[in-house]
Amino acid sequence: MNLGALEITWCGHAAFSFKTPSGKHVIVDPWLEQNPMCPPRLKNPANVDTLLITHGHGDHIADAVSLAKKHDATCIAIFETVLWLGKKGVGKLIGMNKGGTTERDGMKVTMVHAEHSCGIQDGDQVIYGGEACGYVITFENGVKVYHAGDTCVHSDMAIIGELYKPDIALLPIGDLYTMDPAQAAYAIRLLATKIVIPMHWGTFPALTGTPEKLRELTKDFVGLQIIDLKPGETLTGELKRFAPV
Ligand code: NI
Ligand code: MN
Repeated sequence: MNLGALEITWCGHAAFSFKTPSGKHVIVDPWLEQNPMCPPRLKNPANVDTLLITHGHGDHIADAVSLAKKHDATCIAIFETVLWLGKKGVGKLIGMNKGGTTERDGMKVTMVHAEHSCGIQDGDQVIYGGEACGYVITFENGVKVYHAGDTCVHSDMAIIGELYKPDIALLPIGDLYTMDPAQAAYAIRLLATKIVIPMHWGTFPALTGTPEKLRELTKDFVGLQIIDLKPGETLTGELKRFAPV
């Protein structure tokens, strides 16, 4: 597997930032400022072109409005969440729904199913945010990354695997709010993806799933690579890992 010039950086929890081969900056689930796992140097990104939101929970959407306004970035989310973002003053929005694909800067973004809730906490109210989703991102060099969002294991993962054949799957493993390592192991079987980056674990003591446990449960999977990035680490080229000091 060669990512070419694509850079994938784990900002901790479900937040990932991507530098696309043509140099655009994409962040999925921007929770940076208050994210205890996010290294200080990543809390205030210098460039943001596109934000992808999987659902309206604070640990995924908290910095979407401020980053979109500051960088005049485009927010992609499910239709109802986009309505809320618009009310909060975000100007560039792409509202979509599951099954749809939108193309941007040579990158194709497909919204796929996730099994989770999607209420948006707004002051003392909970706003209906539509449904939680995941994304398959096809970068302009052909590399396909599946960000599962927050989800339990679900049978659509077999469809996502067959239809899109993601090269890399970003899967939650922390338990309590999402899949635990046993469900994630089952998910990997459904997806048949050979490179997996665990996420949504270790942020709080309640998120008990670990990459070690996932590794133990998948040791019979031929050719599987579980890459447990550390928050702030970047993956690029021939799966080379680096973190600036
Ligand atoms: Ni959630
Ligand atoms: Mn979450």
